[in-house]
Amino acid sequence: MNNKIRGRQTKDGIRIFDTTEFDGMHVAGALAAQILDDIAPHVVPGQATEVLDKLINDMVDGADAKSATIGYKGYQHASCISVNHVVCHGIPGSKTLKDGDILNIDVTVIVDGWYGDTSRMYVAGQLGRKAERLIQVTHDALMKGIEVVRPGNTFGDIGHAIQSYVEAHRMSVVRDFCGHGLGRVFHAPPNVLHYGRPGTGPRLEEGMFFTIEPMVNLGRPETKTLADDWTAVTRDKSLSAQFEHSIGVAADGCEIFTLSPGGKFHPTYGE
Ligand code: MF3
Ligand code: CO
Ligand code: CO
Repeated sequence: MNNKIRGRQTKDGIRIFDTTEFDGMHVAGALAAQILDDIAPHVVPGQATEVLDKLINDMVDGADAKSATIGYKGYQHASCISVNHVVCHGIPGSKTLKDGDILNIDVTVIVDGWYGDTSRMYVAGQLGRKAERLIQVTHDALMKGIEVVRPGNTFGDIGHAIQSYVEAHRMSVVRDFCGHGLGRVFHAPPNVLHYGRPGTGPRLEEGMFFTIEPMVNLGRPETKTLADDWTAVTRDKSLSAQFEHSIGVAADGCEIFTLSPGGKFHPTYGE
């Protein structure tokens, strides 16, 4: 069998994509990001998270794409919506948003077989001071991680950039969940840790596709999963935030597949 056709992977099982394969990821990533832009005006006090999920599902359908999360390990929704102390994998439901609630909306779509996975933070109504600081630090921590993505650096460099930034702001990085390789599958090697030591872990190579998706808590890093087997919350009930981009390693840095078309990635942008 010809390895060039089957595709190359590193000794750590990380797939290396060729330059033509970036295009498919840009299309999928742009749709996921567009959906996150378009849901923003619907995030208001009194809104039920299941209504947000229904709108997202309709947007995916309307784009002739597929939701990657519906049917994934039994998950039944087009988004994860994680409110306040929910760290990730919040299940959309009938509970309504209150003024000042912060929430992460995470959407993964499949377009032509390629996966676009992104999440960002929103606020219902008025953003509180502590929540604003948490959201700002989490956003900036993701960008600090992305800044060190280039061939020759390592996955440990990404984790270190994120962890040192977050901890300098006296917040904590969740250890129980990580980013992941993706491409024509949802979750592939490697596990992308959001903490670590410089120079450790697999080396970054041009053509690797993965997510970086740090979860940051105002309190301690420990999480627990509720009886629904999905919802992860902070053990100490402190507020948690997350941002996620899908990216590809380029010759001289990286390409972000899930940039916001409307420049709305951060909740205080574009208002
Ligand atoms: N989108 C999530 C991630 O960033 C995974 C959600 S899986 C689900 O990897 F089943 F909970 F939707
Ligand atoms: Co992801
Ligand atoms: Co995601």
